[in-house]
Amino acid sequence: MDNSRKYLLNFKGCNFERTLVDMKILEKLDDFEIRDDDVFVITYPKSGTVWTQQILSLIYFEGHRNRTEKWDTLDRVPFLEYNIRNVDIENRPSPRLFASHLPYYLAPKSLKNNKAKIIYVYRNPKDVLISFFHFSNMVVKLEASNTLENFMEKFLDGKVVGSLWFDHIRGWYEHKNDFNILFMMYEDMKKDLRSSILKISSFLEKDLSEEEVDAIVRQATFENMKFIPQANYNSILSNEIGTRHNEGAFLRKGAVLWFTVAKLLTVPLSPCPLGEISRASIVPPSYTEISKIKLI
Ligand code: A3P
Repeated sequence: MDNSRKYLLNFKGCNFERTLVDMKILEKLDDFEIRDDDVFVITYPKSGTVWTQQILSLIYFEGHRNRTEKWDTLDRVPFLEYNIRNVDIENRPSPRLFASHLPYYLAPKSLKNNKAKIIYVYRNPKDVLISFFHFSNMVVKLEASNTLENFMEKFLDGKVVGSLWFDHIRGWYEHKNDFNILFMMYEDMKKDLRSSILKISSFLEKDLSEEEVDAIVRQATFENMKFIPQANYNSILSNEIGTRHNEGAFLRKGAVLWFTVAKLLTVPLSPCPLGEISRASIVPPSYTEISKIKLI
């Protein structure tokens, strides 16, 4: 049964989580005033948003780096359209850090040709699919699916928060010249976290000492984030969003399984450079073959 409308709200062609999205913000996105020193982390869901929020917060706030302040990462880098803590988004002191899943065409108009910076993080669609499947089954605000195949149908139809993975990435990539944007790949961040942090801080024009970089790397690893209450979103999930069971976690595996999956399937799959992403890269070979994927 297609239950998607119970959970999803379609606004100008893009799906949002119905009860968490802030309609007042969505409706005035066009006029949302951008400051030159605003910074956005923009992603398709399950692509490393929380991770990059944590990195941004560690780069910008000494009190976060040395753990003298116990603010949740979500309060340092709130979501623009999912303002679940009712942060006064507009009047926050600069530099304002934001997270968002908006597609390029809904981004505030004044983000275009502006000095404000965007870090766009993307992740291979197979791992996004699996992460999204588990997340949707855990969180009460998202539609659960009995099987991976069942979720995959919704994912490939774009009947999920963020709509189609492919359109999201393609939109931002094809319009990259309109924005001050840095593209980061989840898999690269995983392979070399330190270099990725240096790349991000250089884009943000932030000079960091060796010790500061060390502290950021330390607190942005999957293993450490999992145990930092301000960074792991455990209490946000159970107390503010709501979960169906207690088994899952926002930080679930944090792994790159694309390659394992590619080996399990008989078709050749290779991670392609962003510019070459085609629809073929998200269309699975067949449901029978995808069903061989172990639910990890
Ligand atoms: P998995 O479900 O595969 O574990 P988002 O924040 O966009 O919702 O993405 C969530 C995914 O990012 C989860 O993937 C989560 O584990 C992963 N993630 C979060 N922090 C991470 C980190 N420090 N290193 C690697 N992956 C991380």
